[in-house]
Amino acid sequence: MKCRKCKTPAEVALPSHNTAFCRDCFSVYFTGQVEKAIRRHGLINPGERVLVALSGGKDSLGLMLELSRLGYDVTGLHVDLGIPKSSSAARAKVEGFCAAHGLTLRVVELEKEGLPIPDVKRYINRPVCSACGKIKRHWFNRVALEEGFEVLATGHNLDDEVARLFANTLRWDAGYLSDQGPCLNAESGFARKIKPLYRLSEFETACYAFLNGIEIHTAPCPYSGGASFTGHKRLWADLEYKSPGSKIAFYDGFLKRGRPAFAQVEKETGAPLAPCEKCGSPTSTGLCGVCRLAIAVSERRAADPDRD
Ligand code: AMP
Ligand code: FES
Ligand code: ZN
Repeated sequence: MKCRKCKTPAEVALPSHNTAFCRDCFSVYFTGQVEKAIRRHGLINPGERVLVALSGGKDSLGLMLELSRLGYDVTGLHVDLGIPKSSSAARAKVEGFCAAHGLTLRVVELEKEGLPIPDVKRYINRPVCSACGKIKRHWFNRVALEEGFEVLATGHNLDDEVARLFANTLRWDAGYLSDQGPCLNAESGFARKIKPLYRLSEFETACYAFLNGIEIHTAPCPYSGGASFTGHKRLWADLEYKSPGSKIAFYDGFLKRGRPAFAQVEKETGAPLAPCEKCGSPTSTGLCGVCRLAIAVSERRAADPDRD
């Protein structure tokens, strides 16, 4: 197979686009998709500082590299979850990557913040992944606001977005459907959240990481039963195989025609937000959810006879 652009031998086949690229032309294609996402949805304005949430996986590290190559002012943020073995391995990949590319990195250690995920798992009676997601999002936003970043970027790719959209559609969850997309504008205490990789599939971000020699953390979280929305992703892989281009058509169609309709749906007007009494994060309940979790964990840990 030959590269569609330059006719040298192709290295990456992209059935969704009915094409194949050599290494260099794939890189141009990848950059083009990121630039298109940024331009179309006004993800980053000139001069803005971008905080990039880095898990150590292919998506977030690839995103960081691409945004830095495009000349954006980027800083990495890693949340060390404190899970034995797994967290130190992920963190080492993030630190190694940032050091190798001369990129600035902030690390939040949940152990130091009194909320290591193993304690959340042990003492809090709710699915650990949902509590963990809430804690991570809390720290993404908190660091962005405390340190003056206008934008918070995550590495969600097209497969993540399509699987989430599909799940929200299956439930006809109007609240989520009015909000889902590559850009969530800043509002009352929340930084703008962006997903510049939303046009690129998981396969494409994996190719980008591989072709750029990025060392990534691949082991799944020991507490999760596998990646999120795995079943939905499998269904979509099948659809995409039978009808290439289905994923981006579904997602782009939603952004153009679905979301505006849902935006009309009156959103539940929750209680007004005010800064958390302890940490300053926006909340409607005096103390924010994460501060309340931290208090619950510390009380239960203190009362645990098996704990030294
Ligand atoms: P996931 O929900 O694990 O697929 O992660 C989605 C995105 O959240 C990743 O692409 C990262 O941008 C960000 N992320 C996940 N885990 C972490 C972490 N421990 N520290 C920083 N960012 C993270
Ligand atoms: Fe949060 Fe596994 S419980 S990543
Ligand atoms: Zn708080």
